[in-house]
Formats: sequence, structure tokens, C-alpha cells
Amino acid sequence: MMANGILKGKRGIIFGALDENSIATYVAEACVAEGANIVLTNAPVAFRMGGIQSLAEKLSCEAIPADVTIMEDLENLLLQSMNILGGKLDFMLHSVGMSLNVRKKKEYTDLNHEWMLKTFDISAISFHKLMQQAYKLDAMNEYGSIVALSYIAAQRSFPDYSEMAESKALLESFARSFGYHFAKKGKVRVNTVSQSPTMTTAGSGVKGFSDFFGYADKMSPLGNASAQSCAEYCVTLFSDYTRMVTMQNLYHDGGFSSMGMAPEILEL
Ligand SMILES: NC(=O)c1ccc[n+]([C@@H]2O[C@H](COP(=O)([O-])OP(=O)(O)OC[C@H]3O[C@@H](n4cnc5c(N)ncnc54)[C@H](O)[C@@H]3O)[C@@H](O)[C@H]2O)c1
Repeated sequence: MMANGILKGKRGIIFGALDENSIATYVAEACVAEGANIVLTNAPVAFRMGGIQSLAEKLSCEAIPADVTIMEDLENLLLQSMNILGGKLDFMLHSVGMSLNVRKKKEYTDLNHEWMLKTFDISAISFHKLMQQAYKLDAMNEYGSIVALSYIAAQRSFPDYSEMAESKALLESFARSFGYHFAKKGKVRVNTVSQSPTMTTAGSGVKGFSDFFGYADKMSPLGNASAQSCAEYCVTLFSDYTRMVTMQNLYHDGGFSSMGMAPEILEL
């Protein structure tokens, strides 16, 4: 895809680039290609793996560690980012998710509820924490755009997605609720993008992921949406071309969410 400079002069923070497969990595690259100045961030442990530093080098930007569950980390991140980028922010991507119960292979009917709370904190409440800090610090420019990545398990039952389904339902609800307040404060937009299954570290942690990936690909008339196309969609949401879009959960899934029956699935 040719870049068109539609984010020229805009400043943003991209959360969740862990390695070359992360959806956030694609979004960061697309934003820079479109002319944005960005700061990358991830959990302190992610910095030990090195992927984020090499991406920062490649894109000539700063990478700041922040645990999304810790308010002080978020405050420091926002203040430092505004300092580095030279002003208030125009966009933020929340591309963060992790389930302790999925990671520890607990069945949905036998979940550890302490872990569930931690899962909700990392995967959903962190979105509220981030927006609350940005709201208090007045860190967003007028018509700024905040996007979080979601999944259709928020609306429909996908048994192996486990407690991440409730995490995404909560995440999408925060987008609607905070979207109201942020629109009133400074015309800031808040949306979630409900993305197709994508081959990443978080994605492949889900049981039976590669079979399911193939199923979703057949079920979607356009096929699964790739991380690259997700990045391109996020760019449009950060741009001035979507200024009146807010409080939405936007499907970016090749048509999966509108399908009832796909003949392709029957062709074995
Ligand atoms: N891969 C898929 O199939 C798929 C589909 C729809 C939505 N999503 C969503 O996309 C987002 C990005 O996931 P991905 O698939 O690129 O996988 P990924 O594993 O590359 O990204 C998840 C990120 O969350 C970060 N993270 C975890 N705990 C954190 C914490 N406490 N503080 C800060 N960061 C933390 C990880 O370090 C990692 O960078 C997630 O919200 C995920 O649920 C993924």
C-alpha cells in the first residue's frame, strides 16, 4: 500500500508491540509511514525480549516501559510522550491482552477467579485506566482518536476463548462509556476494532487456534483480515477522515460477523 501522509504531524502512542507478529508492530509501522510521530510502549518484561527496542530503532522513535495496570506508569508514559513528541497526543492504540487462566490451561468451568480479576485488569480495565489518566492530564488534542483491539467473542460464544470473552465485552463497554465523556471534553473519539483471528503470540495462546484460524478464514467471504490490513484500518481511524466516528465497535473481519452459513465450510 502506498502511504498518503494522512497522519502527517500527528502524535501518538502505540501499546503492545512485542515482536514482529504483533498487530501493534504493524500499526506502528503504518502510522510512521503515514507521517506520524510515535512513542512505543509495552510492559517492562516485554523489554527483556528485545523486539520493542529493535522496532523503536527501525522507526527512529522512543520506547517507554509501562505496565498498563499501574496508574503511575501510565501517568509517566503520557507525560514523557508529550514531552518527547512536543505536544498533546492525537491518537493512542491499546493493543494489550493476556489471560492468566488461558495461559495456565484452566477449563472455563473451573477458572481461578483471582487470575480472572488480573486478566480483566490487564485486558480491559487498563483501557479505562489509560483513558482516565489521559483525561485528567488533558493529554489528547481535539478530535484525537483512541482505539483498542477487540474480538467478536464479546458478542458470540467461542468456547476456547474463555475469560477473554468477558474481557473484550468489558473493553468494548469502556469504549462506549468513556467515549461519551471524552467526546464532551475535547471531541475525542473512542472506538474498538474487532479483528479477525491473527497469528500472534496472544492469538496462538488460545487452544486449537490454528484450526480455528482456518475455519474463520473460510467463514469470512473476504478471508481473515491480516495484521497489515488491521494497521491500515487503524490509520483511517486515527486520521481526520473519520472524525465523527465514536463509541463504536467496528468489525474488521472480512465479513465473518455477518455470516450465518458458509458453503465453503461444508466442502471438506
Ligand atoms: N491475535 C488475534 O487473533 C487477535 C484477534 C482479535 C483481537 N486481538 C487483540 O489484539 C491485541 C494485541 O494482541 P496480538 O494478537 O498482537 O498479540 P501480542 O501478544 O503480540 O500482543 C499483546 C501485548 O500485550 C502486552 N501486555 C501484556 N500484559 C501487559 C501489561 N501488564 N502492560 C502492558 N502491556 C502488556 C504484551 O507484552 C504484548 O505486547 C490484544 O488486545 C488481542 O486480544 C488479537
